[in-house]
Amino acid sequence: MLEGKKLLLVISGGIAAYKCLELIRRLRERGADVRCVLTGAGERFVTPLSVATVTGQRVFRDLFSPTDENEIGHIELAREADLVLVAPATANILAKMTAGIADDLATAVLLATDKPVMAAPAMNGRMWEHPATRANVARLAERGVQFVGPEEGEMAEAGEWGPGRMTEPADILTAVETFFAGAGRLQGRRAIVTSGPTYEAIDPVRYIANRSSGKQGHAIAGALARLGAETTLVSGPTRLPDPLGVRVINVEAARDMLAACKGALPADVAVLVAAVADWRVAEPAKRKIKKDSTKGAPVLKLVENPDILAKLSADNAGRPALVVGFAAETGSVVEKAKRKRLTKGCDWIVANDVASGTFGAESNTVHLVTAEGVEDWPPMAKSTVAQRLADRIADALEGVPARPTP
Ligand code: C5P
Repeated sequence: MLEGKKLLLVISGGIAAYKCLELIRRLRERGADVRCVLTGAGERFVTPLSVATVTGQRVFRDLFSPTDENEIGHIELAREADLVLVAPATANILAKMTAGIADDLATAVLLATDKPVMAAPAMNGRMWEHPATRANVARLAERGVQFVGPEEGEMAEAGEWGPGRMTEPADILTAVETFFAGAGRLQGRRAIVTSGPTYEAIDPVRYIANRSSGKQGHAIAGALARLGAETTLVSGPTRLPDPLGVRVINVEAARDMLAACKGALPADVAVLVAAVADWRVAEPAKRKIKKDSTKGAPVLKLVENPDILAKLSADNAGRPALVVGFAAETGSVVEKAKRKRLTKGCDWIVANDVASGTFGAESNTVHLVTAEGVEDWPPMAKSTVAQRLADRIADALEGVPARPTP
């Protein structure tokens, strides 16, 4: 049921816009309050009068309308909703959302909102597969936009078939219901996530690092926040945008990451995904090390970094109720992960084989190793791994008393 839920539906200009009328009807049948913003192109496909009739409310269309802005401004419109749904989401509106362009009411609302955003793309298959759209969708997903579809099927253009059909209203409705069923499952919980690589200084210019992109860790932080957890993401240097609704602490070296994690305690759950450097340079040079062929190449003395996962798993009063580690391995992944779970003292290990190019990729094949056994998850997008893990965390914390907030 969606009783009392406020939805803001942004209808952009695609042939699938006609399906919105049915979507609105179904959302309202479940008790949702649906307000609509119609783009100029959207109006070409569905009339404001039909939308107003099915929503039972006036339709918002103009960023510069004196009456609209007097009654309810775009900022308020953006923030009053519990969920902003963009359906159909054309290639054009996705591109504008990615770039932060706000040249009409719909895009201004999407830029101004601090609420979760769900998008149901609809476009020609070639447009969906164009590298520009691929990049935009990946970027928006990293920022926490949830995508429903598109589906594969017949296109509006006669004889064309491909990915790009908008998901049917009944399935969009299910996605919205699933979203609301999940939202709030981790309300009142505190989560710490580490992500990305660490940089260990050699001198003021050079450092030792690794290939972690941070995609999986950032996606997990976003997924926990979407379930309502007060989430702190302690991130090494990455090229990723901050996930929506997450407090981000940027660090470079392992020791700073450990300090930031400790500072973020108490927490109910810690998910340590960062690829922390095992070693750092014992004494980083204060000045840039100069090449001197008479002396030969410098020798770097390494010392071990603190193990953040082991430290947060240590059995003391501040230990989060659930500590989850990651294990990137090449070969015998599950066996190594089982051993790692015991040696580190954490509750779960998410193991993945990185031999096959997981670094920087969009998808991941993982195994969840717990005290109860091993679950092999099928290959899936990193965002899906994140969502599924967040759901499992919510299940595991059910009935566990929450840590008091400091
Ligand atoms: O020992 P290994 O690096 O393979 O373990 C991986 C797991 O341990 C990951 O969850 C990683 O975030 C964590 N880790 C850590 N601090 C380290 C090394 C690894 O938190 N110094």
